[in-house]
Amino acid sequence: MNQGKRVGIVGAGNVGATVAYSLAMLGSCHEIILRDNKIDVAKGKALDMSQAASAVRSHTVVKVAEDMSDLTDCDVVVVTAGSPRLPGMSRDDLLMINANITKEVIKGIAKYSPNAIIIMVSNPLDAMTYVALKESGFDRSRVIGMAGILDSSRMASFIQEKLGYGGGQIRASVMGGHGDDMVPLPRYSTVAGVPLTDVLTDTEIDEIVQRTRHGGAEIVSFLKTGSAYYAPAKSTAIMVEAILKDTKQIHPCAVYLDGEYGYSNVVSGVPVMLGANGAEKIIEVTLDDKEKEMFAKSCASVQSLINTLNQNNFFQGE
Ligand code: LAC
Repeated sequence: MNQGKRVGIVGAGNVGATVAYSLAMLGSCHEIILRDNKIDVAKGKALDMSQAASAVRSHTVVKVAEDMSDLTDCDVVVVTAGSPRLPGMSRDDLLMINANITKEVIKGIAKYSPNAIIIMVSNPLDAMTYVALKESGFDRSRVIGMAGILDSSRMASFIQEKLGYGGGQIRASVMGGHGDDMVPLPRYSTVAGVPLTDVLTDTEIDEIVQRTRHGGAEIVSFLKTGSAYYAPAKSTAIMVEAILKDTKQIHPCAVYLDGEYGYSNVVSGVPVMLGANGAEKIIEVTLDDKEKEMFAKSCASVQSLINTLNQNNFFQGE
């Protein structure tokens, strides 16, 4: 039982609201507190979800924080707040806008829920996780980015589609940042333990790798006005559950590296053990030369975003 557990969700848009809905349906926690600038929209969604929870006899209650100061004593806080990329906006423009939003939000979390574990979902994901870590002052085990579960799930789904069998038995592995340079690992992907390389050709595997890298963009191209939210939200809910239930399961998550894989002062996606204390252990997987090269490229992309933040004096005066 997780009676008494409290989960905050900052940003009650499609992703944030769907995380809340997943958790409410599972009865993972006692209370979910939604925080959004559109307070009435958040109130409407909270009522709707509380009623859905009652329908499935879940004890979870969904409430609204009208101000960050109402987001108190949360065990976990999920941050989905951020601006989408608008026409004419460069990647760096989005980076600065969302870094500033993240800074504000994280300061509130650190003040009102100082013992929380923070799960970052806002993009650009790895850089925002870095910002959250720096602005919270929390131990790196308590600031974790969601992306690896999503990217691995996308890869698993593409493998299933390509094979035409194996649903529910596919374990796909993706490391690195949540961007075009992510590192899908076919060598560590299996269907019921059978290596992917034994059931698909190199060309087929390459198609899956490329499709995984652009899995988010593929959905945007259909939705036109927004990006994916069911799989991102479910992936986030899986992390929240692992933490609340202290499962010690291994999931790919974005964490601050401090020497692991030979990298420091950067955030990247790696296998992590999730438990009540957050990212309790970082697992170091053996990579071959090609995989190491891809991981290096992915870390360099994230590092260049962090460099842009530094060039704009983002972390000064703290
Ligand atoms: C995705 C974006 C939202 O991968 O990061 O769907």
